[in-house]
Amino acid sequence: MQTVVWSDSLELGHERIDAEHRLLMDIAADIEVIVDDGGNLAVLQSLYQEFHRLLQIHCAYEEGLLRSLPHSVFGAQVDSHCQGHARLITQARSVADGSLPEGYDTHRVFANAYFQLMHDLLIDDAELIGALIREGRHAPRPMPGHSSSGYGHPPV
Ligand SMILES: [Fe+2]
Ligand SMILES: [Fe+2]
Repeated sequence: MQTVVWSDSLELGHERIDAEHRLLMDIAADIEVIVDDGGNLAVLQSLYQEFHRLLQIHCAYEEGLLRSLPHSVFGAQVDSHCQGHARLITQARSVADGSLPEGYDTHRVFANAYFQLMHDLLIDDAELIGALIREGRHAPRPMPGHSSSGYGHPPV
């Protein structure tokens, strides 16, 4: 069963964010195939390692963008969204390290909950990144001593 499927409605119009979302969803789809096949633990662990690596890069970049939204209007939503990112990252790290997060007995149950949370955050991305695009802001706010470059995409 596939929880997360890419569709045009998830395309936000931001080249780098869209490319990263597609990559993450490709790995999510691979994870679901392995889980459906009975869950080879070594393969799952390595897929979650790659997912975790890309997710960290993606969330750091995206949070840099979201910080430029007006705090008075979007502050609470951005805070809550970033907490969702942190939860996704922590849980991916746990599985990448070889243990399911507390409260999950099987990879099937975990993957269902995990990719549902990811999907909810993607919907939230559409609202938040959409607001940035309407304001014409496509690049993260520069932070002193912090490089926003990712893993090979040119800055946008
Ligand atoms: Fe995102
Ligand atoms: Fe996000």
